[in-house]
Amino acid sequence: MKRLHFGAAWYPEHWPVERWAEDIRLMKEAHFTVVRLAEFAWSTLEPAEGEFRFEWLEQAIALLAQSGISVVLGTPTAAPPAWLVQTYPQSLAVDEYGRRVQFGNRCHYCVNSPDFHRAVQRIVRAMAERFGNHPHVIGWQIDNEYNRVCYCEHCQAEFQAFLRVEYGTLDELNTRWTTAYWSQTYSDWAQIPLPIGPHNPGLMLAFRRFVTRSYRNFQKLQLDELRAHLPASVWVTHNFMNWFGAFDHYALSADLDLASWDWYIGSGHHDHLRSGAAHDLVRGYKRRNFWLMETQPGHVNWSNTNNALNKMEARAMAWHAVAHGADALLYWQWRSALNGQEQYHGTLVDQSGQPRPFYEEAQLIGDEFARVSELVIDSFVQAKIAILNCYESRWAIEFQRHNNAFDYVSYLEHWYRSLSANNLEIDVISADAALEGYKLVIAPALMVLDEQRVQRLRDFVQRGGRLVLTLRTGLKDRHNALLASRPPGPLAELAGVEVEEYYSLEHPIPVEGKLFQGSASVWAERLRLLGQPFTTVMARYGACNGWLDDQPAVVVNPFGAGFVYTVGAWLEDRSQEILVRQILRNAELKPFETPPTVEARTRIRPDGTRLYFIINHSRQEQTFTLPWPVTDHLTGQEFAQGPLTLYPYAVALLTRRD
Ligand code: GAL
Repeated sequence: MKRLHFGAAWYPEHWPVERWAEDIRLMKEAHFTVVRLAEFAWSTLEPAEGEFRFEWLEQAIALLAQSGISVVLGTPTAAPPAWLVQTYPQSLAVDEYGRRVQFGNRCHYCVNSPDFHRAVQRIVRAMAERFGNHPHVIGWQIDNEYNRVCYCEHCQAEFQAFLRVEYGTLDELNTRWTTAYWSQTYSDWAQIPLPIGPHNPGLMLAFRRFVTRSYRNFQKLQLDELRAHLPASVWVTHNFMNWFGAFDHYALSADLDLASWDWYIGSGHHDHLRSGAAHDLVRGYKRRNFWLMETQPGHVNWSNTNNALNKMEARAMAWHAVAHGADALLYWQWRSALNGQEQYHGTLVDQSGQPRPFYEEAQLIGDEFARVSELVIDSFVQAKIAILNCYESRWAIEFQRHNNAFDYVSYLEHWYRSLSANNLEIDVISADAALEGYKLVIAPALMVLDEQRVQRLRDFVQRGGRLVLTLRTGLKDRHNALLASRPPGPLAELAGVEVEEYYSLEHPIPVEGKLFQGSASVWAERLRLLGQPFTTVMARYGACNGWLDDQPAVVVNPFGAGFVYTVGAWLEDRSQEILVRQILRNAELKPFETPPTVEARTRIRPDGTRLYFIINHSRQEQTFTLPWPVTDHLTGQEFAQGPLTLYPYAVALLTRRD
């Protein structure tokens, strides 16, 4: 049944069978509808090569089913067992320093190892044969948080084979990478190294594509085994780590049915403008609602202070996730194992088997999910604003930051924060995604361009879209070579400007215009107007290093039926907010006003009804002015237009009554 799901990761293999019924009773009391099982259970499922023990899993699923709790099954491949590693030592990854990774943690495999692939196919096939058609298994998770990059000889040979396909000839590769530089010309594919430490930028970018391809193949191997046995209604996902950067998440998500991710705060507290970007990113992997496959029940064990979330903070977070498109929330994990690396991690039930204080909050969330499931489940987020996320641009910048303070994700978040504070829905999507339906597109540091990207942006503006180009844009091609033009290269015609020089900044410098008198830090570009008739300078640099003094910093240019903004400097928050407000006005996007710690988000039901999620993310009471009379579906209360008091961490799920 389609519903808003709630649950946790459960490891019945850690406990005697006699205990399971009590755990399931407690789960039921917390309104669980789903648990995830088996994603690290390889040694229990296959204790020796080819010998499978599935009865315990069968029994656990059956007991859960009796209580109406569905199951997501994990393929256990992130935890290759000791016997496998002993028999097939080449299945272990090699790190950058040439050391074979030791057994004793997880994800210790080489993603390209043929021995490992055979073992993976065998266990996944056996699980799919046994559970693929199980009526209570509603979905599958492949592996767990792909993350390791392997540098073994086999991977090197595979990388060379990959390059051969990508480039065709060594002449082509040598030209694209300018290998004559520092005498790097290759005369044999076998000479090409893996990028250990700084390397040729072309080779480094190609390697990230290779890592992406490696994980995609590994995932495909499992998908093929699963799909041979799964009915169409059973989905397959992987639990990604939001901004993790070793591979292209769009490429991997393309093969999956559903996107999901694992959300942890670590130390400190929830920052909704940061996590909002992460949820919107994951929703953008497939441009559909997603699952929150793991999240933090109170505290974690791997951060600096591992403090607990405040009472009711997790509830606000749960609804924030739903507001951004989550259709399920699972805590990691149900009960603390008596031994193993994660003894101190937060759970719902402690080592004694008794509910922790946090359990009560989980129970409340589970109850609320159950009560509004039907209202919420088919609704979706509809955004008029898109932020483009480009892995190639991010990698190209990360390889050569130029200014250590220049972090691609932070810069993207800088744009996200200033937009999202206006309570407008935002999609974070691939730089290669279609742009129909958007009014405003922001392209933070879109360094790498190709013809299709340029054409898509040009068409978007031509049709009347508002496009924001920023710093470090249009500098490179897909081989990480500089374009033989001034930035933004082929976008200059749209922008009405070109970049004469970039300046990495030691100190903040003044940026002044009619809208704001502010400053920029980290990065500033000197823009030159190309002489188009209606190009307008919105802000200029103040006196600083002489080169930038009085030069254009922010420019807007009409193009086709739309406008292109070029923001050449990393503005401080206040000026950024003012500029964003101006851009929103120009795009006819109306902010929804709330106090800064109160978030308002909308999901739309198929019948057009708008669901408003109003969340107070602070420990202080806030007052928010309701623009219309509403019903709150979490409490059943009705409120008139006017001030509404929100207690600390309050959540309201509203529909309009007028
Ligand atoms: C996740 C992982 C879980 C658990 C959790 C602890 O990254 O997928 O298995 O280790 O972290 O916070």
